[in-house]
Amino acid sequence: MADVSPRAIRGRVLTFVRAPAGAGDAQSYRYIEDGVVLVKDGHVEQVGPAAELLARLPADALVEHHADALIMPGFIDPHIHYPQTQVIASYGAQLLEWLEKYTFVEEQKFADPQHAARNAAFFLDELARNGTTTAVAYCSAHPASAEALFSAAHRRNAGMIAGTAIMNRNGPPGLLEPAHDAITASRDLIRRWHGTGRQRYAVTPRFAITSTDEQLAEAGALLKEFPTVLMQTHLDENKNEISTVKRLFPDDPSYTAVYARFGLLGPRSLFGHCIHLDDAEVALLRDNKSVAVFCPTSNLFIGSGLFNYERLVAAGVRIALATDVGGGTSYSMLRTAAEAYKVMQLQGQNLPALAAFDLMTRANAAALGLEGEIGSIAPGAFADLVVLDARATPAMAHRMEVTRDLEEELFVLMTMGDDRAVRQTYIAGRPALKLNH
Ligand code: GUN
Ligand code: ZN
Repeated sequence: MADVSPRAIRGRVLTFVRAPAGAGDAQSYRYIEDGVVLVKDGHVEQVGPAAELLARLPADALVEHHADALIMPGFIDPHIHYPQTQVIASYGAQLLEWLEKYTFVEEQKFADPQHAARNAAFFLDELARNGTTTAVAYCSAHPASAEALFSAAHRRNAGMIAGTAIMNRNGPPGLLEPAHDAITASRDLIRRWHGTGRQRYAVTPRFAITSTDEQLAEAGALLKEFPTVLMQTHLDENKNEISTVKRLFPDDPSYTAVYARFGLLGPRSLFGHCIHLDDAEVALLRDNKSVAVFCPTSNLFIGSGLFNYERLVAAGVRIALATDVGGGTSYSMLRTAAEAYKVMQLQGQNLPALAAFDLMTRANAAALGLEGEIGSIAPGAFADLVVLDARATPAMAHRMEVTRDLEEELFVLMTMGDDRAVRQTYIAGRPALKLNH
């Protein structure tokens, strides 16, 4: 997949180097007003001022100039369900009813490899249209669904992390597999895909309600067997979900403690939602360096509750930001940041634009243990980039007439922007979108 010629991508280059301490923290990012990202063989070779780099470009370099646009690391979505592209916008239910009435129905269709292949292609196209270059995706319970996603992502050289949803109880027969069979299927997929090109595996027990003790224990053992594999599940999303977990696991002191008992906590473990944690659960997540994933559009849409960002930051819990489509209502990380801002406002908290863009890029990469590889524009990183236009719509252009600095522009982008603000997305140095808009 080597590109023959190097590519010089010119524009206003912005990348984060650490978490912003607050609004106005200019040390948290690097910004080059007229910059060039020089890409070779899918990676960033150099980044610097156009005046310097253009003068010594290789003779065969292709130059692509995105005048006035911001070039940032591609967005990272650390929690999304690829079999839910036709579940998004399902009316009138909270979590457990929503799962039964809509989600489990659609996910059963992924037993058909052709359905899975068509949806995998749609999913990857839609991520690219929204500037998302890496996602951590739940597949359906069928190994064929993971196979379809991994093979499509591999063909595009897009770095995806995914796993089949392991379930052996409390779901329709079409999604349940005997405990051991599901684990065997996951192990086969890990051997086939974890580390193949840019693909990585995440062991995916859907949530405690849909697995027996035996299956959760096997999932924990699988993680031990493959220490570089990730883990994803759901935690403390909804009150009825939590009382069901208490009923199913009466001897465990909390929902988080169930996962801890089976060895599912750790620095490569991603827990979606984490809305209703008690203090002991917060401490468990912190002590095990696990990641709490904030899914604002989903938490609002399914009526789950408000993620307490500042409480978790203050406790030292690692945090990531994600769409959670199809409980979430948008593929756009910009829309997701806008809703995160509002969820925090409702609790008297703020999300500075710098922090939001750091989350969507560098911090989400760090949450996956991939800082340096993705989420930054720096030599050696994959050239996964998004090109953003803060004047993409008449209303945005009108608002931009009075913005005074970069931080205000970023805030307009996250508050008003969506896929229309994405001018181009590069995946490993190659343009992923045919049409600029
Ligand atoms: N909990 C278990 N499965 C799911 C799911 O598919 N979406 C959400 N939002 N929560 C879940
Ligand atoms: Zn989810």
